[in-house]
Amino acid sequence: MLQELYKEIVLDHYRRPRHRGELENADLREHLLNPLCGDEVTVYARFEEDKLAEVSFTGRGCSISQASASMLTERLSGKSREEAEGEIEAFLEMMRTEENEELGDLAALKGIIQTPNRIRCATLAWTAFKSGLRGGGE
Ligand code: FES
Ligand code: FES
Repeated sequence: MLQELYKEIVLDHYRRPRHRGELENADLREHLLNPLCGDEVTVYARFEEDKLAEVSFTGRGCSISQASASMLTERLSGKSREEAEGEIEAFLEMMRTEENEELGDLAALKGIIQTPNRIRCATLAWTAFKSGLRGGGE
């Protein structure tokens, strides 16, 4: 069942987070708290020229927020600043609308969300990264 698959994808990222850990010499570092629950995430990135050479995260919170941060690091690694902005907008748009577009594993996040306030969980890291790209400030 699709629902089961979605759950597995999200749990896999939660249990085996990719690129988890603080990045030394980060050019981008942005912390965001979800005031509704107190969960938080910090995203880090290091640029090489215009490319995101490394992307990582730290944080604590529900499985959706942490899995989503892990997916973000995979999705944005190696992208240019402009591409990353596009990816973030596409993801946020997908979470806002009925469409699932061509966002691969990211659709799993949406697929397992049952109530609207969980959308905040899924968008936490992405909103932080977006803010970080724009020079920071929560
Ligand atoms: Fe590094 Fe997937 S684990 S990009
Ligand atoms: Fe706190 Fe999901 S319940 S971010």
